[in-house]
Amino acid sequence: MTDARRIVLSSDHAAIPLRLAIAAHLAAQGWEAVDIGPTEAQSTPYPERGAEAARRVASGDCQLGIILCGTGQGIMMAANKIPGIRCGVCSDTFSARMIRQHNDANMIAIGARVVGEGLALDIVDAFLAAAFEGGRHAPRVEMIKALEKG
Ligand code: RB5
Repeated sequence: MTDARRIVLSSDHAAIPLRLAIAAHLAAQGWEAVDIGPTEAQSTPYPERGAEAARRVASGDCQLGIILCGTGQGIMMAANKIPGIRCGVCSDTFSARMIRQHNDANMIAIGARVVGEGLALDIVDAFLAAAFEGGRHAPRVEMIKALEKG
């Protein structure tokens, strides 16, 4: 279990209802969900949404992030361009647990056109319940961080 309590949420237009459902789910569990929108069902570019959420995590304002678009793929790609971010698309609970335990991910992306609300909430719960194991995984994560430095 992580001690993080502040989680940034964002999405593009394809995932607004699922993002709102996740925000309500987190709030009901006592997490501080920092939902940075959008609120309108207007076309909203996923690179902007992913980068803004990622900057909240990279700056330390939020400890973790959950971002959504139609597939999760585009917004994940954008978030991973921000130094310090380790984000992957999760469409199952096993990956959501392992991406934290082994990869020390600080964000996950979910595809609102891929998974239903029930599974998405389980994915969120699995991610948040897990913690980085360190040990043999630590030098591998350090290698990822080193790649950002060129
Ligand atoms: C928007 O139509 C869609 O392309 C976007 O939500 C996402 O799936 C991109 O990766």
